[in-house]
Amino acid sequence: MTETFEAVVHYSQNDEIAVVTIDAPPVNAMGVAVRAGLHKALSRAFAEPSVKAVVLIGANDKFIAGIDIKEFGGPRNGVKLSDLQALIEQADKPVVAAIDGFALGGGLELALAVPFRISAARARLGLPEVNLGLLPAGGGTQRLTRLLGPEAALDIILSGRHLTAEEALRKGLVDRTVATALLPAALEFARTVVAASTPIRKIIELTDKVSGVDFEIFTAIRKKNESKWRGMVAPYKIVECIEAACRLGPREGLEVERNAFQVCLDAPARAAQVHLFFAERKAAKLPAGDAAARPRPIKSTAVIGAGTMGGGIAMALANAGYEVKILEISQDALDRGLDRVRSNYATSVTRGSTSQATADAALARIKGVLDYGALGDADLVIEAVFEDMALKQETFRKLDAVAKPGAILATNTSTMDIDAIAGATNRPGDVIGLHFFSPAHVMRLLEIIRGTKTSSETVATVMSFAKEIGKMPVLARNSDGFIGNRILKVYGRESEFLLEEGATPWQIDKALQAFGFPMGVFLMRDLAGLDVSWRVRQYRARFRDPNDRYSPVADRICELGRFGQKTGKGYYRYDGRTAVPDPEIEALIEKVSADLGIGRKPISDDEIVTRILTAMVNEGAFILGEGVARRASDIDVVYVHGYGFPKYRGGPMFWAENQGLAKVYETVQGFHARFGKLWRPAPLLAELADSGSGWPTGEES
Ligand code: COA
Repeated sequence: MTETFEAVVHYSQNDEIAVVTIDAPPVNAMGVAVRAGLHKALSRAFAEPSVKAVVLIGANDKFIAGIDIKEFGGPRNGVKLSDLQALIEQADKPVVAAIDGFALGGGLELALAVPFRISAARARLGLPEVNLGLLPAGGGTQRLTRLLGPEAALDIILSGRHLTAEEALRKGLVDRTVATALLPAALEFARTVVAASTPIRKIIELTDKVSGVDFEIFTAIRKKNESKWRGMVAPYKIVECIEAACRLGPREGLEVERNAFQVCLDAPARAAQVHLFFAERKAAKLPAGDAAARPRPIKSTAVIGAGTMGGGIAMALANAGYEVKILEISQDALDRGLDRVRSNYATSVTRGSTSQATADAALARIKGVLDYGALGDADLVIEAVFEDMALKQETFRKLDAVAKPGAILATNTSTMDIDAIAGATNRPGDVIGLHFFSPAHVMRLLEIIRGTKTSSETVATVMSFAKEIGKMPVLARNSDGFIGNRILKVYGRESEFLLEEGATPWQIDKALQAFGFPMGVFLMRDLAGLDVSWRVRQYRARFRDPNDRYSPVADRICELGRFGQKTGKGYYRYDGRTAVPDPEIEALIEKVSADLGIGRKPISDDEIVTRILTAMVNEGAFILGEGVARRASDIDVVYVHGYGFPKYRGGPMFWAENQGLAKVYETVQGFHARFGKLWRPAPLLAELADSGSGWPTGEES
């Protein structure tokens, strides 16, 4: 007979073994009800004389995805995780945690208080709290360090990565993995433990403090990550806790962990990163208007163009298990493209991020072709030719002639008009934009752009396919630059105006880095190369309003043949890969200012950051008001995952909301009065400032 506690935890008995099942879909997050239910069910098992051991398992093929993230920062109610752990560790009956799907965060911490852990071969285990600006505060830093030693604990907790069951077994995090049905295997395991009277092991008492530790590793890891962790709290606190596990006894160690957690909880990074966690998931949802559409099955794929983007996209598809045909116009171009793909895989193997066997298998899925006819059986074709409208339209005309009915025809572009491309075909409903970020096999962000005629089915197919290949989709409407590059344009433009008014590239870059960007705008441009955008500017010059302020600095630099790092000179001079401020550029900028009649004066780092961020937010508000983005948090996801906006600040729109939209609006108005038309406030920002509210939340489901 099954009893149910708090509607989310079931209790049943299988002879002398009690089975406690967590059943809180979709991911068995451990909220108040689950904790209360577990306390009751476990107490029931421990008090029942006929029970000799307990199996703790999750329904829905999952163990526990962690504490309910929505609870962080709110009042802490009811049974705590530590109460459950104490209950288990004080019991004289053995408990077996049976892990399927995933045991993450508080879920793994609960399992670490359980004496025996077995896992399905497909399960994943990890302590990913660092991704939320937190640390595992259910004893995770103390128990994991005692179980696996400080090096492994640092690796697992600081990366937040999910370990495979196989790695967990190898490291000693689980006692056994099973490829067969989990519950029968767990019952069998529990019976064996009872029959053999296997002693109950309590990790927390495994050792008083971890001995034989070289304490240098803690100093070294802090030093190594100095720039990566700038502005963050959690990684430092994690190191502190793991070090405490090596220096102190369990009680004091847990105390250090509790205090460190509180510091993380109160830090602004936590709210920002929790915001992003939910933002990423909301962005991946289909709009209500498309929800009824059924995704088409995608089995075979093709990519047109074996350049850097095409090759990277082919790798992303092959890595996810898809057969990919990659088309080039000449054998030579195809060979070069495939060579680059091979060398990328070789690098991944050398770096240890992929095994040789996995790389070989992925490579075997990529097949080069030279004839459009070969694309006739593809369910999805992604065009990745050069960013040139005529070329793209020509490619789509050819594709239209050979693609099978119902195939999705996607264009990889960062700015081009999707409708104009779709218009080259007789099936605009099947055409959609995909903006991959480079390197496409590494970067997770994927901007998906629906054209005016793109069908719901096409949108639904691509959104679900994006998840399938491990990308983080954000849906946008067709607009010059979509979300990401439209804001980038304003961000770059404002940086250039700051140069003309008195700043230097290195001052601006430093100010942006101090704010948390991994790289300033000019360093980024030098790295990407300045010539392509120069060509685009020349092409677009004819469409520019001559009354708009335009900075010629970038053009002047290109006219000198300085195209960035690849030519050894750009905004900076390069000593190898080291960027060095260049007096020649300072003189060039001063000359531009003088020619334009702009009196240069010192500009503070604060003003630099405020101007650039405010410009981004105002553009974001236009994008939102025009319906190009579905919600403000989608813009945050794009900026954090595609453009290096510091994760711990939650994205530009989150930053703005924290400043207060009324204050941001006031700043925009101030700049509008000072600099004119390009600072026209977005109507949505004006409206929200007036109403005193935050960004509209957009669709919740
Ligand atoms: N608390 C609350 N809600 C959670 C959650 C948690 N710990 N983990 C996942 N969810 C929710 C998601 O918000 C999503 O809700 P929605 O459907 O309303 O949008 C739903 O569960 C499914 O999650 P999703 O990420 O879309 O599913 P997935 O199958 O791709 O991934 C996980 C599942 C568990 C790997 C992933 O959700 C995850 O990494 N969760 C966070 C784990 C974590 O950080 N735990 C530490 C906290 S102690």
